[in-house]
Amino acid sequence: MSEIHVDFGDRSYVVIVESGALGSLGSRISTAMKPSGVIVVTNPVVGEWYGDLAEASIAGAGLKVSRITIPAGERFKTMRTLDRVLRQMVELGADRRGVVVALGGGVVGDVAGFAAAVYMRGVRVVQVPTTLLAMVDASVGGKTGVDLPSGKNLVGAFHQPSLVLADIDTLRTLPARELRAGFAEVVKHGIIFDQGLFDFSFTNAEALLRRDTVAIEHVVCRSVEIKREVVQKDEREAGLRAILNYGHTVGHAIESLTGYAQYRHGEAIAIGMVVEARLSEVIGVAEAGLARRTAEALRRFRLPTAVPAELSADAILAAMMADKKTVGGELRFALPDRIGHCRVVEKVDANSVSAAIHQCRK
Ligand code: NAD
Ligand code: GLY
Repeated sequence: MSEIHVDFGDRSYVVIVESGALGSLGSRISTAMKPSGVIVVTNPVVGEWYGDLAEASIAGAGLKVSRITIPAGERFKTMRTLDRVLRQMVELGADRRGVVVALGGGVVGDVAGFAAAVYMRGVRVVQVPTTLLAMVDASVGGKTGVDLPSGKNLVGAFHQPSLVLADIDTLRTLPARELRAGFAEVVKHGIIFDQGLFDFSFTNAEALLRRDTVAIEHVVCRSVEIKREVVQKDEREAGLRAILNYGHTVGHAIESLTGYAQYRHGEAIAIGMVVEARLSEVIGVAEAGLARRTAEALRRFRLPTAVPAELSADAILAAMMADKKTVGGELRFALPDRIGHCRVVEKVDANSVSAAIHQCRK
């Protein structure tokens, strides 16, 4: 079992990474939070696998527990879903001392976290990530929100969880494609912050894809530690936290242009990382070879690395302009200068971006 402390003063919390952690959910909530009741927000798939286990643990600790189920998938990460969750919370009698448990992947975590952030001006949320992507990234750091038709995560709030409980055993039921998508964020953490994690992932890719518990626990813990290092220094993305967006400027554009249907979030980010590594080479921030090494690592996890032929560079550029990371119409990117180190580069010219996109086609 690993316990990683995230220090935000009186909003500090721990991230528990452990096989079988779900069994201790109720006792941990009861002891640390003394809530008036607990509402588990999940989706039909995760609810079917783990809903009863989570609820039994919570009820076993003597707490009142109810469940809200939202539809699965990014296309339901919307204001409409948020509205339904909030109305059900009222119907269930949730009060300000209640706790929301987000049981699922990043979509459930973002929606339930946002509901907790705004319900009665804020109630506590416990993140229980059940995808690799949510364990290594989405459950930690307090970003919550929903998409608008015009773009991803355009509405949201920073709302730190009161506890994160990552039960590695839940990854056993995760579809292989979802598991692979999660490794994109692990590779990202290696590239932006820690060559050791990059090398470990590269060398142990097959064990990781086989869901070897020891290897998985290592990359989850190291990723959480890296994210903690970054978000503790810059909770609200005034500067440093932007490095976590490496691959996301191009990746979000690809997700949006393909209607959130063709690629999993991690897959789009994988392509985005290769393009942005190439961009870093094109504008002279990184030496030649970064994009090749990035693509090699991602291919080890059977992730896509090429920009789809049907997406023009102009369309990708236009979608990037609509992204909330673009400020004042000027393109800015988190760009690695080498494996293990990344910085934000402002005012990147569109021609260089187009060139990088063209060089990353199939
Ligand atoms: P997801 O939440 O859509 O989950 C993927 C699929 O896996 C779903 O269909 C779900 O039903 C299924 N699933 C989840 N856990 C399972 C399990 N243990 N067994 C079987 N099936 C399971 O996708 P995701 O990749 O986890 O999250 C992507 C979302 O996270 C995006 O919306 C992205 O914007 C967001 N995100 C947020 C942050 C943040 O800091 N808040 C960071 C990264 C990504
Ligand atoms: N996933 C990016 C962030 O949390 O800032």
